[in-house]
Amino acid sequence: MNSDSHRHSHIDDCRIIDINTFEHANGRLTVMENLATSPINIKRVYYLYDLPAGAERGGHSHIVTREFVIPLAGSFDVVVDDGRRTKRVSLNNPSRGLLLPAGIWRTLDNFSSGSICLVLASEKYDESDYVREYEDFKQLTAEKR
Ligand code: TYD
Repeated sequence: MNSDSHRHSHIDDCRIIDINTFEHANGRLTVMENLATSPINIKRVYYLYDLPAGAERGGHSHIVTREFVIPLAGSFDVVVDDGRRTKRVSLNNPSRGLLLPAGIWRTLDNFSSGSICLVLASEKYDESDYVREYEDFKQLTAEKR
């Protein structure tokens, strides 16, 4: 398994990014257009919704895929882990997203009722890009310099 991303991943690279937003008396409009205003080259879009109380999602890292996570509705937390340190990031504003580089273990929890989590991904779905066992993740990140 190519572990380069896990050797170099760092929670400080999990950045909150403001998305271009137009304020209007009749509501707000937020837009990402190609690479100019999107932090990743989007190949896939998916969203989590109908999340029951106490739901926990994620629980994996990716070898190559980078993701940009946006709280389209409601709020939730993303706990990011680079194998050395963890931090909890709360998302509750649809005009601000969290960029997740490859090689970061992520867990999503604390979903508010009716919340919707939009995820923009840099790669198509590929199960072989997942690290799903935390022990494997720890081994890959143990090689960090
Ligand atoms: P998974 O990535 O484990 O979900 P989460 O991280 O949100 O808990 O995916 C759940 C299921 O959905 C799993 O069977 C794989 C499938 N899936 C796809 O087929 N395509 C996709 O783009 C994603 C994200 C998941």
